[in-house]
Formats: sequence, structure tokens, C-alpha cells
Amino acid sequence: MSKTFYLTTPIYYINAAPHIGHAYTTVAADVLARWKRGRGEPVHFLTGTDEHGLKIEQAAAQSRQPPQRYADEISAQFRALWTHLDVRHDDFIRTTEPRHVGKVQEVFRALIDSGDVYKGHYSGYYCVSDETFWTPTEAPPDHKTGKRLCPNPDCRRELQLVEEDNWFFRLSRYQRPLLEHYAKNPGFLAPEHRGREILAFVKEGLKDLSVSRANVKWGVPVPGEPGQTVYVWFDALLNYLSAVAGKEAFERSWPPDVHIVGKEIYRFHAVIWPAMLMALRLPLPKKVFAHGWWTVDGQKMSKSKGNFVDPREITREFGVDAFRFFLLREMPFGNDGDFSRASLLKRYNADLANDFGNLLSRVVTLIDNNMNGELPSRPDSESDSYPKQVARKTEAIAERMEALDFSGALGIIWGVIGELNERVNSQAPWKLFKSADPAQVEQARRLMFELIWSLRIVTHWIEPFMPQTAAKMLAQIGVRQFPDALTPEQVLAGAEKGMGRIHKGPPLFPRKA
Ligand code: MSP
Repeated sequence: MSKTFYLTTPIYYINAAPHIGHAYTTVAADVLARWKRGRGEPVHFLTGTDEHGLKIEQAAAQSRQPPQRYADEISAQFRALWTHLDVRHDDFIRTTEPRHVGKVQEVFRALIDSGDVYKGHYSGYYCVSDETFWTPTEAPPDHKTGKRLCPNPDCRRELQLVEEDNWFFRLSRYQRPLLEHYAKNPGFLAPEHRGREILAFVKEGLKDLSVSRANVKWGVPVPGEPGQTVYVWFDALLNYLSAVAGKEAFERSWPPDVHIVGKEIYRFHAVIWPAMLMALRLPLPKKVFAHGWWTVDGQKMSKSKGNFVDPREITREFGVDAFRFFLLREMPFGNDGDFSRASLLKRYNADLANDFGNLLSRVVTLIDNNMNGELPSRPDSESDSYPKQVARKTEAIAERMEALDFSGALGIIWGVIGELNERVNSQAPWKLFKSADPAQVEQARRLMFELIWSLRIVTHWIEPFMPQTAAKMLAQIGVRQFPDALTPEQVLAGAEKGMGRIHKGPPLFPRKA
């Protein structure tokens, strides 16, 4: 039994409806999962919702619902959005499910037994919005108001004083082992610049971490101590384990190949989580990747500004695939970027309507008008045939995909699309077809052959990014469906079910204003 490629997104808080930021991570993970499946690798793609803790308890109270009912409602909104966005996850975990709660308690007990979790006294500050503990020195009183504010510059909310007996995780014990792990596994932290921040942070020294709360009701009860609940981050991180806890699933999937997260929760995933796994004597994930953040029209999205971008609003106007494409093309994975309708519109018209959609409709129209809609034959064995050159680019694209450089991969694909357009422009086949010279007509037919078979390769490449477009495109170029795990060589050998003719359809991406 081969090991599955196990990839995850963060599990999202359900204190508010999903927005473009959540869609970003989930679509990126979906693209990677589809890419892997397309190469014949078994995949286990996990996402889900993070449903415990004070922040959720308060959000439920505000909406006047019992926390579980509130959680059911918002969690369902996340699930429905993933369906809408064509996200094909293999599992969706909720931290209120018994399979998860049981695992958290089992782990907590095991770590008490190993001495990694111990009883202590906590005195310090807590940010409910970030669900994060801060020491008095990390969060000094604000010189104007005297209030202690969350040190996270994107939060700055007032902190709560917490004074209580609770349980601690001996994180300090893992400073050395973590540094050794980072040093021995250069691919573990990515991208590099964020890895360097983690390294600097861990080198400063690690303090033990409070991992239970004495006065928070909405959470996983600490085993044997009903007055306490497990700290929501300790609970949440374990989702990656509880989702594959069954013996068979565990053997098939563990360790995770990549956790994809946003940069603001990188420390939890690159420091605390691996330390927890070390304490449990479990193999560590192979990679923890932190991507950047979207702002909207130059501003941070926030409740107070009310500027959350609802993915459904975008897809209503531009379609699901254009949205998926934009998210991954516009900013390099790992960097920050800005979302605006204007930038989406620009990319839509330039990359999708002009470069891509036009290419397809030109080729299909030319064949329809001049070749009676009949598909040009398969590539012959000439080793220098143009579609074969195109197919060879698959390697470079694969390299970008393995590095989670989605915009880089799309850059290569659009380079090919540009080249194909250039071939059409420079040879002007609409003239060649009308020529009385049979050699010119033959040249036009040859070009159509090159374009059609190159477009098949392009369809193969774009499927992970734009699954609906790939399906529509296949139909237009006379292919019913690609079989799974197709290599470019198989595409060129015509391994798919063909329909013998092209089927001209409406434009894939009609221009918009
Ligand atoms: N529940 C925790 C994660 C626990 S994982 C064990 C959490 N949830 S969250 O709802 O706040 O989601 C945070 C994640 O959503 C980010 O890490 C990122 O993946 C995504 N994003 C949320 N806002 C974002 C942007 N503005 N831009 C890009 N991604 C963002 O933290």
C-alpha cells in the first residue's frame, strides 16, 4: 500500500462566515491535491473547522444560540463554500466531533503521564480574538490609556488578565530538538524568509505554554478535571492527527506531507505543533508552508471596516474558475498581495479572455470553417514535433508545483499560451487556408495540428487550477475526458476518449467591463 500525499489547510474559526482569505488557502491546497491526483498519487486532503474556545463561545452568545447549534450552522457554510468552489477535500473535520474530542483527551492524558504536561499557576494576559497568551513584558500597558493591548499589530484588542491554576506543556524542553530538526531538514520550514523568522524566535528560548483554561466552558474537558478545558490551540492542532487516527488511515497517511497555513499562525505550526509531536514520539510533518496575506483595496479586512470579501460575490460576477485562477496567479505563494475588483478584472480580460479564451476560440473556429470540424490526426513520430516540445515543459511546471510556486507554474503555462498565439498571428492561417497553393493549405493544416495537440497539453496543465474550464475546453477540442493519471506522452498518444470532431462552444471567458 503506497503512502498517500497528506495535505492540510488550517481548520477555520467559525466566529464568522468564510471570506476570501479562507478561500485562498483552501483553493491552493485543492490545486496541489488535484495536481498530485493527476499524476497518479493517492492523496488525502483535509480541511475543517475549529469550533471551541472563548471566541466561539462569545460569538455564539452574541447570535443568541447554543454554541453547538451555532457551530453547526457556520461550519456548514464553510463546507458549502468549498463545494461551490469545486474544492475536492477527502475529509472535513470539526473539533466538536467525538473522533476528535476523544483523541485530544487521549493525548492530554499521555502527555501528563510522560511529564510533558504538568500542573502550574498561570498569571498573564490573554487575547480572545487571537486565542493567544501574552506575558506582562510582551504586552506592557499602553502609554496613553494604561490598557494592555494585544501585541499583534493586526489585532491590538484589549487583553484579559488571567490568574489561575492550569496545565502547562513543557515546550522549553523542545528548543534544542526543534533547532536540530530545522537544521537537518532544510525543506521543513518554507518559504525560507519565514523559516528564518522561526529560527530566530526559537533561538531566543522557549517558555512552557499554558494548555488549559480554568474558566472556559466551551472546549474539550481536561480528562479527570471537569472544571478545565483544553486550550483551544492545543485542541485545534491535534485535528491533523485525530483525522487519521484509525490504524489503517494512520499507516496510510502519517506523517503529513505539507501543512499549508497563513503566516500569522506559523509559530503554532512550526514550533508548538512539532514540539507536541516530539513529545508524542510521532514523526513530524515533512513541510510546514506559510503563505502571505491578502489585503483588500489596500486595507486589512476586519469586522470594524466591514470589508470582508465574500467569495460568492466574486464568483457570481466572474465565475468560479476565474476566481481560483486569480487567487493563485496574482501573488506568489508566500508573499502578501492586494485584492481589488479592478485587478481581478484586468487579469480576467488580459489573461483569460484575451490570451487564453481567444486562442481556443480561434483554433476551434479555424478548424470548423476550414477543415469541416474534423480533428487533425495524432502527432507523428518526428522527434522535433512542436506538441512534443510543449509537452516537455511539464517538467518545469512540476518543479514549480512541488515547490508550491503556483504563480510560477501558471507563468510557464501562460508563456506557452503566448507562444501559441504568436504562432497563429505570425502564420495567419486564415489566409493560408484560402490560398490556391496546396503547400500553403498544407502549412495551415499542419499549424492546426500543432495547436490542437498543444492545447490538449495545456488543458491537462490547467485542470488543477480551473477544473470546469478544463472540462469545457476538452469538449471543444473533441475530447470526452482524460483518464486519471495521464502523462503528457499519453495525451499526445491520444489516450483519452476522443469524439473525432471539435465542438465549437461559447467563449470560455467573455470579455467584461
Ligand atoms: N482556527 C485557527 C487555525 C487552527 S489550525 C490548527 C485560525 N482560524 S482562522 O479562521 O482565523 O483562519 C486563519 C487562516 O485563514 C489563515 O492562516 C489563512 O490560511 C487564512 N486567512 C485568513 N485571512 C487571510 C487573509 N487576509 N489572507 C490570506 N489568508 C488568510 O487561525
